[in-house]
Amino acid sequence: MIREVIITSQSPSGSVHLAPMGIHVVGHEMLLMPFRPSTTLENVLASRRAVMNYTDDVRIFAGCLTGRRDWPLVAAEGAGGMRLAGALAHAELELVRHEDDELRPRLYCRVALEVTHAPFRGFNRAQFSVLEAAILVSRLHMLPPEKIEAELAYLRIGFDKTAGPIEQEAWSWLMEKFDAHRRKSE
Ligand SMILES: Cc1cc2nc3c(=O)[nH]c(=O)nc-3n(C[C@H](O)[C@H](O)[C@H](O)COP(=O)(O)O)c2cc1C
Repeated sequence: MIREVIITSQSPSGSVHLAPMGIHVVGHEMLLMPFRPSTTLENVLASRRAVMNYTDDVRIFAGCLTGRRDWPLVAAEGAGGMRLAGALAHAELELVRHEDDELRPRLYCRVALEVTHAPFRGFNRAQFSVLEAAILVSRLHMLPPEKIEAELAYLRIGFDKTAGPIEQEAWSWLMEKFDAHRRKSE
């Protein structure tokens, strides 16, 4: 099972990096699989720590993919690191082992601490649409235009029926990216 979360990690100089990542749940361990090159990968290898932020604010996913990485952070409750101030919950991870790979190293982590901050208020289809559209943005350079347009048309159905202002803002940032990409390929 893969959980779509925001990973916060810290460089040796203390700068905090945010990145949306799909984390594989493997028994009691969390498996991070960043594609090279990755700031998250470098930070986790150096600090042996990461914070997994559970959030339903899809602007953070869309924001990270569109140059908006400046989201409110607070110190995590455990042994260091920063977490999203608005996280519904977070898990503090410790790297236990890693398998190197040219393309996609595997970072196996244990959950050192897990804290809940706010209630989960149910699924929303527009949030799913934003996450999928954000993934499309991260793969724009690899996908044929017809596939992008077909997927967006499908994602827009659930989005139009169920989005609130947060989802609409996130969607608008992603649509700017798609528009710019279309103009570039004309
Ligand atoms: C929902 C979602 C899941 C993602 N999962 C991954 C992932 O598992 N591994 C990865 O390398 N990038 C993933 N990405 C793309 C990264 O967030 C993005 O490329 C980011 O810049 C990673 O590189 P960084 O560590 O240098 O920030 C995902 C993006 C989204 C929107």
